Amino acid sequence: MEKKNLVIVGGGSTYTLGIIMSLIEEKETLPLRKLTFYDTDHARQEKIAKATEVILREKYPELEEFKYTTDMETAFTDIDVAFLQIRTGGLKMREQDEQIPLRHGILGQETCGPGGMAYGMRSIPDMIELIKDIRTYSEDAWIMNYTNPAAIVAEALKREFPEDRRVLNICDMPIAIMKSYADMLDKDVWDLVPGYFGLNHFGWFTKIEDKLGQDYTEVIKDKIVNEGFIPTDSEIANDASWQATFATARKMLMDFPEYLPNTYLQYYFYPEDMARKEDPDNTRARQVIGGRQKRVHETCDKITGSQSLEGVELTGDIHGAYMIRAAASLIHHLNHIYIVMVKNDGIISNIPEDAMVEVPAMLTKDGPKPFAVGEIPAFYKGLIENQYAYEKLVVDAYYEQSYMKMLQALTLNRTVTDVNMAKAVLDDLIEANRGYWPELK
Ligand code: G6P
Ligand code: MN
Repeated sequence: MEKKNLVIVGGGSTYTLGIIMSLIEEKETLPLRKLTFYDTDHARQEKIAKATEVILREKYPELEEFKYTTDMETAFTDIDVAFLQIRTGGLKMREQDEQIPLRHGILGQETCGPGGMAYGMRSIPDMIELIKDIRTYSEDAWIMNYTNPAAIVAEALKREFPEDRRVLNICDMPIAIMKSYADMLDKDVWDLVPGYFGLNHFGWFTKIEDKLGQDYTEVIKDKIVNEGFIPTDSEIANDASWQATFATARKMLMDFPEYLPNTYLQYYFYPEDMARKEDPDNTRARQVIGGRQKRVHETCDKITGSQSLEGVELTGDIHGAYMIRAAASLIHHLNHIYIVMVKNDGIISNIPEDAMVEVPAMLTKDGPKPFAVGEIPAFYKGLIENQYAYEKLVVDAYYEQSYMKMLQALTLNRTVTDVNMAKAVLDDLIEANRGYWPELK
């Protein structure tokens, strides 16, 4: 297989080490010649990069070139594939997104509700710029985007780059959930074939089969209800917050046993419970700073200090493997089926054509080829149309710099029940995001 060149944009992310380990585990799937990290924060990226140099020397000697840079031309020249994982405003602004709504009794979350909206307004301009910059130097590179809030980012990118067929928006949540299904069935996650529909962080599994067509959907539902539901991927298995999330997914299934829900629906189904359970002084951003980030940075220091991997436990994870496998399927025309975001165009026949939906698609050299879903029942149609209207209004508000559209968006969001509340939280978010958002009129 021909070797390819990959750039990881947001090289300083706490997810990068997991991706590196996955690249090593998946070197047959996506053999690389050159790997580059790009970040706007030199110091943050360097910590990860210095450890990566040691890891690659030990585990990936075939790789011909590794570099890290804050220079776009160096990063984006001669690239076959880019992974986009930026976080405008960093974890510091994530914390604001989570804390501000809580002050108004609304749940605070990275991608859902007012926090997700605030983050969306920050991500859109940076993502547009970034894709233009990548295109300046590598016209044909595959761009795998999983920058959050992916639903809002995907909606904006669809409008900004309607002809660019090589931008793929993708999220690891469905596969992370499938990993738990696979483990409860004692099967390999890559052998499971999903039926799925929805929007990003807002969807349902209708079916889980193996490649021979054996249907496991009811077995999975029974097991979840009777034996419980836990995260099993290495990255999230031992995390209390993810354990609670999976437990709530079980509750959602018991409330609506028709389909298997994406865990993110918890924020829309039980917004009051979710808000009540949060500690404003220890929201998810704080937990990530004191948890994953601390762990990753300590691991890096250890590896860099000893210039060796000895005594360090590091493995790939489902997140990394998913991005790599999806990219390989596009680049090498493997025609594998993965859940990704695409423009609806009739896939779900009774919701808007222009919605960016999340569905299974075959990933080919010509891009994703989604499978028809058909009509969905009234409950899901109602929820999705409402949520899509919210997403669309956020992006409208961005382009039109419209306060009213932001307020309409928030009013539609299921996590906000009252216009007075929507206004108050919006005003606080505007204040906190000065310099990031366009000025609203
Ligand atoms: C999943 C979602 C991502 C999200 C992440 C948050 O992977 O697909 O979109 O950013 O969870 O995880 P964290 O551990 O940072 O709260
Ligand atoms: Mn996601």
